[in-house]
Amino acid sequence: MRSKYYVTTPIYYVNAKPHIGHSYTNIAADAVARFFRLKGVDTYFLTGTDEHGQKVEKAAREAERPTQEFVDELADKFRELWRLLEVTPDDFIRTTEGRHIKAVKYVLNYLYEKGDIYKDSYSGWYCVPCETFWTEGQVEKINGKAVCPDCKRQVDELTEENYFFRLSKYQNWLIDYIRSHPDFVKPEGRYNEVLSFLERERLNDLCISRPKSRFSWGIDLPFSEEHIAYVWFDALINYISALGYPEKTEKLEKYWPADVHLIGKDILRQHAVYWPIMLHALDLDIPYQVFAHGWWLVDNKGQAEKMSKSRGNIVDPYTMVDEFGVDVYRYFLLREIPLGVDGLFSYDSVLKRYNGDLANDLGNLVYRILSMAEKYLPEGVVRFEARPKNRLIESLFELKDKVDLEFSSLNFYDGLASIWEVVNLANKFIEEEQPWTMRKEGRIEDLQRFMYILLEVLRIIAACIYPVMPSTAEKIWQQLGIEDDILSVGWEGVFVWGEIKDGAKIEKFPPLFPRREA
Ligand code: MSP
Repeated sequence: MRSKYYVTTPIYYVNAKPHIGHSYTNIAADAVARFFRLKGVDTYFLTGTDEHGQKVEKAAREAERPTQEFVDELADKFRELWRLLEVTPDDFIRTTEGRHIKAVKYVLNYLYEKGDIYKDSYSGWYCVPCETFWTEGQVEKINGKAVCPDCKRQVDELTEENYFFRLSKYQNWLIDYIRSHPDFVKPEGRYNEVLSFLERERLNDLCISRPKSRFSWGIDLPFSEEHIAYVWFDALINYISALGYPEKTEKLEKYWPADVHLIGKDILRQHAVYWPIMLHALDLDIPYQVFAHGWWLVDNKGQAEKMSKSRGNIVDPYTMVDEFGVDVYRYFLLREIPLGVDGLFSYDSVLKRYNGDLANDLGNLVYRILSMAEKYLPEGVVRFEARPKNRLIESLFELKDKVDLEFSSLNFYDGLASIWEVVNLANKFIEEEQPWTMRKEGRIEDLQRFMYILLEVLRIIAACIYPVMPSTAEKIWQQLGIEDDILSVGWEGVFVWGEIKDGAKIEKFPPLFPRREA
């Protein structure tokens, strides 16, 4: 068993309000963090905001606001959304904080003194929205004009004196490292992508400075008055500055290296190439894993398209939560597609999951069991010590290892599917056992035993969904008259048969997920 678990999300640019893409990563990170906490593992979950760079400065200017004030306000918007979505980070790092700036300066100095950062003159093409330099060979031409190969917007030609980090020096080391650590990048397709890129192309050294003559919203280079740090070089360091680096703090000693950096597929190179090389140059350990998830696209008359401000098709998490509630939103994002692939977001697909998995399957099961408890257990719960042997109970207890395996490796898609198999088995069990017949025939003890099985099944199912749907899980426990909260019982405790006490008072709430019309 792991002794600790450190999970991070990207830190988000504060040039606009958060959207579903951002909330996706944080919900997945929250679910895995909750799962490890439930298992009693010392867990640390970090998120935050990336506040420097030209893009952010430009957004503040467009909003006609002082930059610091502008970023303060947006950082709060992210914090607010995490609170709403019951995303529970242990820390929230902002790159404009002193603790982060101190770490970035330390890293810059260390690498400069080591000779891994050097000055050179550089000519290239610069894409402002992507904050990326491109060489002559990399830019594409549209109607004779140079455009960014990523976003296809026009790029500007520049020649500048800048500082460079010797990525190329470490290329062979990184190839060997990745080859010998097959779990370093997940899913497997992304691992192959990184490795074949490194084997195919020679790495250019990374330009890690920007001249202040162009913009100055960033961290000053300690060895040049004319430059600030490149926003990506600055941002990646958040994963250690938040733990107190360069001080050898208890947190740093305990949690570093990270267990998983959860990111979107578009920022894989920065995390699987630049970052491990930076860490290696700093003589720090390399994170165990970088997991790149897919993108949420939106459905436009059957066509999947990227969300963008200009298309006006950005899905606002607040709207979805207003419409369906926090847990439904969390469930949908983690159940609809496996974390590594792209998904299509639409109101209809959320509604379908809602009416199917939640209203029909889980909601119905909860409501039925509690209604039967009201009717068949007027004196309260009668506890039966022995764990019965049947297919439902076998499947239920198989969930312990299955859910553990899947949730620990961020596979919520299969983890949730296996929980729902048990939900459906439980619904079938009710049909097959026919409690109404037991009652008619006066088989009271059979009825009590049957009810105890179902209450315990519900208790364990609820605990399994806790990482993904924390409030729903706790609500189910409350209805079962359990006084402890799920977290304090812990994963091992959950799978001890007979936790519901004799005489426990069942309290039926209104249906958790009332069916909705389209
Ligand atoms: N600031 C950098 C990250 C620095 S990490 C040291 C950044 N910020 S971002 O705000 O532009 O994007 C953050 C994350 O949101 C990325 O992982 C990106 O993949 C994710 N998403 C943005 N749009 C998305 C979707 N439509 N769907 C899923 N995730 C998407 O990059």
